[in-house]
Amino acid sequence: MPQPRQARPAADAPTGLFIAFEGGEGAGKSTQVHRLAQWLREQDHEVVVTFEPGDTKLGRALREVLLHLEGPRPTPVAEALLFAADRAEHVARVVRPALAAGAVVLTDRFSDSSIAYQGGARRLGTARIAELASWATGGLRPDLTVLLDLPPRVGLARFATPHDRLESEPLQFHDRVRSSFLELAAADPAGHVVIDASAEVEQVAQAVRAAVEALLHDARQPL
Ligand SMILES: Nc1ncnc2c1ncn2[C@@H]1O[C@H](COP(=O)(O)OP(=O)(O)OP(=O)(O)O)[C@@H](O)[C@H]1O
Ligand SMILES: [Mg+2]
Repeated sequence: MPQPRQARPAADAPTGLFIAFEGGEGAGKSTQVHRLAQWLREQDHEVVVTFEPGDTKLGRALREVLLHLEGPRPTPVAEALLFAADRAEHVARVVRPALAAGAVVLTDRFSDSSIAYQGGARRLGTARIAELASWATGGLRPDLTVLLDLPPRVGLARFATPHDRLESEPLQFHDRVRSSFLELAAADPAGHVVIDASAEVEQVAQAVRAAVEALLHDARQPL
């Protein structure tokens, strides 16, 4: 069930905006996060770029366990809990402080990734993983989730060799990830924009900017 987004702060309080980039392997998340950050900075926005898993001290250790091809493979449930632990740290130590300071926070992956990978593709149940994510974030949800959508074989072909554990999963796994992402977007159309990520980088960047411009426009409107 989609939950209501958090109420906007009062007009004189810092009005940070929280934007998550989601999508499968090689969809262009990192590329587009950095392009958008540059564009927003050119317009004098304070921007914080961050990512999951791993953008905190504890998160770096969790990322090693979660993604490295060598080393112990966590069970699916342990994997889900480790991602949730990373997210709890990330929200408390990076995202919330930046939003409180009025920044536009761009995160490369967030809760939808766990729901799609662990809930959908690993079949742990999307409702259960959504609930876990909600606990980890204290209910914080992005103002906008940008879903970069493309067939998994196209995204995976953008890399010469798989470089992490999830990327190495079979194609059917990535097909389930894609379907789950699309279901999340369809269930919450006001909070998601789905962009065709098979287009050229600049074309994708333009679509992202259009969606974010609309969001910035709405954020400037009085309550
Ligand atoms: N629209 C595009 N068309 C073609 N190639 C692209 C496009 N966007 C990104 N790429 C290239 O595809 C590769 C993957 O892009 P990027 O690292 O941004 O994806 P990602 O979604 O962050 O991947 P990962 O899931 O591994 O973090 C890079 O080599 C990048 O230059
Ligand atoms: Mg990336």
